[in-house]
Amino acid sequence: MISASAPGKIILFGEHAVVYGRPAIAAPLAQLRATATVAPGESGVRLVAPDLDSAQWLHEADQNDALAAALRLAQTATGIRQFPPMTITVTSQIPVASGLGSGAAITAATIRAVVEFLGRADLLTPAWVSALTYEVEKIHHGTPSGIDNTVVAYEMPVYFARQQPHNHIEPFAVAHPLRLLVADTGVHSHTRDVVLDVRRQWEADPDRFETIFSGCGDIAQAARHAIEMGQVAEIGRLMQANHELLVQMTVSSVELDNLVRTAWQAGALGAKLSGAGRGGNMIALVTKETETAVRHALFASGARTVLTTVIAHNTVRLAQS
Ligand code: PMV
Repeated sequence: MISASAPGKIILFGEHAVVYGRPAIAAPLAQLRATATVAPGESGVRLVAPDLDSAQWLHEADQNDALAAALRLAQTATGIRQFPPMTITVTSQIPVASGLGSGAAITAATIRAVVEFLGRADLLTPAWVSALTYEVEKIHHGTPSGIDNTVVAYEMPVYFARQQPHNHIEPFAVAHPLRLLVADTGVHSHTRDVVLDVRRQWEADPDRFETIFSGCGDIAQAARHAIEMGQVAEIGRLMQANHELLVQMTVSSVELDNLVRTAWQAGALGAKLSGAGRGGNMIALVTKETETAVRHALFASGARTVLTTVIAHNTVRLAQS
């Protein structure tokens, strides 16, 4: 039996604008993971997702089923003519439709477990897993930037820009650890729909949206500098500025704005929505001193869960509260 896992993720700066070539910054959420387990079967390939109450045969799966797509891609990429009989069980601690990269993590974990089960662990570099996961992300997202699959497969904080022929992927130094609270509005939102709606708005008013996207790109670049210099207050200010631009894109919501304002009023250095928006999670930059007050305020304002994550140099520690 083979098991493999992959983490969730948060976007610190630059969501949506990253789809249009601007840089963005994201980090893994190491403690919230998706796990895939592959066990030998008696006949055929069985896909089991207990969280979703679903079990199906690969040969009967819908063309658009993401798990089945991951398997078919893994089959082509490994050159295996026929899968051996096996049962693949996928579980995840990452809430779905919440901006935490659940789809990418499930895909990456499944690819890792299946490819190792097929005896081709040698193929499983982060770049290879990321590239295959990206193909499946297209089913989830339509036009994904590639940031989710990158962070999930490399499992480290990255400065990312979508580029041809190769994406720009750069780890960066974190001079002063960043303590973040990740709070869930409890409102489900589908990345594909939000990304599509932003595209429609961009098509209707390209000048305005290009200006907003460039503002996000400038913020991500400035944030990277501030992170490398340990200018924590400046990072907080840039989070507020990024949130304002996301509001202009119409991807915030009453619940997200409420939690962002609450965090700010309770002493956070800055706060913003994270991920596709219109629901899902927000993040707040705190210190050891302000963490407890901000967490309590977030819960009092309707947050369903509040996680603490500390981003240090290429490592992320996480504690559930
Ligand atoms: O909500 P999530 O975790 O799927 O993040 C989406 C990030 C976007 O920038 C909105 C889309 C993308 O592909 O980068």
